[in-house]
Amino acid sequence: MDKIRIRGGRPLSGEIVIGGAKNAGLPLMVAGMLTDELLTLTNGPRLADLDTMAALIAQHGVTVDQPTNDGRVLAIGGPITNTEAPYDIVRKMRASVLVLGPLVARVGEARVSLPGGCAIGTRPVDLHLKGLEAMGATIRLDAGYVHASAPQGLRGATFVFPFPSVGATENLLMAASLADGRTVLANAAREPEISDLADCLVAMGARIEGIGTDRLTIDGVKRLHAATHAIIPDRIETGTYACAAAITGGQVHLRNGRLTHLGALVRALGEAGVEVIEQDGGLTVKRLNGLHGADVMTEPYPGFPTDMQAQFMALMCVSDGAAMVTETIFENRFMHVPELNRMGARINVHGASAIVRGVPALSGAPVMATDLRASVSLVLAALAAKGETVVNRVYHLDRGYEAVEQKLAACGADIERLSE
Ligand code: EPZ
Repeated sequence: MDKIRIRGGRPLSGEIVIGGAKNAGLPLMVAGMLTDELLTLTNGPRLADLDTMAALIAQHGVTVDQPTNDGRVLAIGGPITNTEAPYDIVRKMRASVLVLGPLVARVGEARVSLPGGCAIGTRPVDLHLKGLEAMGATIRLDAGYVHASAPQGLRGATFVFPFPSVGATENLLMAASLADGRTVLANAAREPEISDLADCLVAMGARIEGIGTDRLTIDGVKRLHAATHAIIPDRIETGTYACAAAITGGQVHLRNGRLTHLGALVRALGEAGVEVIEQDGGLTVKRLNGLHGADVMTEPYPGFPTDMQAQFMALMCVSDGAAMVTETIFENRFMHVPELNRMGARINVHGASAIVRGVPALSGAPVMATDLRASVSLVLAALAAKGETVVNRVYHLDRGYEAVEQKLAACGADIERLSE
């Protein structure tokens, strides 16, 4: 298993190009299953999770081509010959459950392994299933698999989310695009990745109103056709490298970064003393003076993103004050805390909240990555720490960050990957 070694203390300076969003690319790839023509996606990031999704879609019989040799263009579409999503793929990536709606909508049946929990929580899929039932699917659970069937096709329905689930909104949005009649998704999630998926579906011939709001109205069509769609830049990668600039006291330009996609993160960074300016086709980020404590609570978009909680906590570890970080989306997303404390941070967890008391400096140490965002928070802490840090199990990092050591080294970080 690869490791990453970092010697901290160098302010970052330079430019980082932000790639296509992992959490937009994954549902967009699945949207290709909705058409027997080809959906062409551009600006694809080179990430392990998208490779896993490509393998899953291909084993359904759907064409998955990479027409360019840089792997950043994906062409997906065609007939579905296998309606089962096997456990050995689904267990590796819970976004696999997104094939459920498209399979039922397109061919009337699906047999998808339940994803099971993951490091950050149990992460059930009950809302995905309830929504499909509302649209006329019969759902049966058997031997760890969901059997969904709608031999007469899905019909439009009104479904009110008890809370705005990102994946369930995406699953039902795709299913409704081919359902018979009108579907209304109320209290739906509004993340930029969902608007990106909706824009792509419209380009494929879907009829969707309310894009960007929490109420999506979809009038189903018989079939969807070919389209070409550019994946939006990754707002979490943007926020992560903004925190890297801030924690090292440097200044970095994040090419392709979009201010509107960062939601409440910009306000929190401002409160912490970090300036984010939209200019030159991206965002320029720099720490103004000291780093100040700023309280954050994770919420659905446009609130503070849960996928930025670990990174912001790392930043608060070296603030001149204290910060309360509250996680409301997942039940176990503080696994970076013991590792940060091993680097000299002072963090106390009380239920869903962590109290972070800033320290003058962190100290490098061998640390363990546990999940994607916890891993990168350890990299951020290491960039600011005195001495050497070795982050183990960086395969977690490779799921969601393309060429992280190259991007940081190009801005002056002393970082290298140690391949075992
Ligand atoms: C998406 O996961 C993202 N993944 C996550 O990013 C992100 O943290 C999350 O949205 C919240 O923004 C992708 O887009 C591939 P949810 P998803 O359904 O769809 C509960 C990363 O680091 N829930 O909004 O699984 C669930 O347990 C990853 O890139 C139900 O109870 O998120 C969780 O507590 C991590 N029943 C909460 O809702 C359901 O049917 C939010 O889940 C569905 C979800």
